[in-house]
Amino acid sequence: MAQIIDGKKIAAKVRGEIAAECAELLKKGIQPGLAVIIVGDDPASKVYVRNKKKACEEVGFHSEVYELPEATTEDELLALVGRLNNDDRIHGILVQLPLPRHLNDDIIIANIDPKKDVDAFHPVNVGKIMIGNYDFLPCTPAGVMVMLKECGIDPAGKECVVVGRSNIVGKPQAMLLLHANGTVTVCHSKTKNLADVTRRADILVVAIGKADFITGDMVKDGAVVIDVGMNRRPDGKLTGDVDFASVEPKASFITPVPGGVGPMTITMLLQNTLTSAKRVAGTPPRA
Ligand code: GUN
Repeated sequence: MAQIIDGKKIAAKVRGEIAAECAELLKKGIQPGLAVIIVGDDPASKVYVRNKKKACEEVGFHSEVYELPEATTEDELLALVGRLNNDDRIHGILVQLPLPRHLNDDIIIANIDPKKDVDAFHPVNVGKIMIGNYDFLPCTPAGVMVMLKECGIDPAGKECVVVGRSNIVGKPQAMLLLHANGTVTVCHSKTKNLADVTRRADILVVAIGKADFITGDMVKDGAVVIDVGMNRRPDGKLTGDVDFASVEPKASFITPVPGGVGPMTITMLLQNTLTSAKRVAGTPPRA
């Protein structure tokens, strides 16, 4: 029987610390501010953006949400990003992905001031993460690392297997586990004998966007299983990339969906926005 890693509880603890630091900054006349831009009507993205705004308000941040129509042009979006780059009230800018097909994610991200890139998607910040000397945390992978730490799980010397190689999760997750001295393998759609690799994992992080893909036979007894997936079943229920029913009895620790990694991602976004505001205030970032 696995211990369930309660992402909501860990997120609440960290958000409490962030709120306390925000209150200190407010005394100095600085309120951390996050701008979130969403283009188009994707229902899932709209829910994520609403949750980000609510989370900002709960810790005392200023937040601005820009809901732009699907037909927004690249020039219009770049103009807004440019304005926010120069707005002193805004310490973090997040452009919700995916963007509509006529907009190029890479071009938009490259035009966010790296000092305000709280997603850590700008090539400068991606490079810093690679080197291991960075200000902004890649939100989802960093949230996973906080969860491991809170559970007393040290990746050092462990077989860490990441399933998925996205720029948002898989690649930066592999880097953070490597920085923590894990022995890291990254699997993807072309990996041969995937189950043979996942069965080696002491720590298995799954981020492929396929509902209930990892089953109990693919997991070693006693493994720590982190499920980054967020999928909707045909019956409307949310489910992760891990088949909880068959994996949970074998794992030592496992994250649920929902209530696992999700709340941690937004928490790390708040952390990055705070870090950016503290830089303006001349205060060192939180350890
Ligand atoms: N879409 C899905 N996850 C994310 C994220 O972490 N940041 C942004 N900007 N868009 C996303």
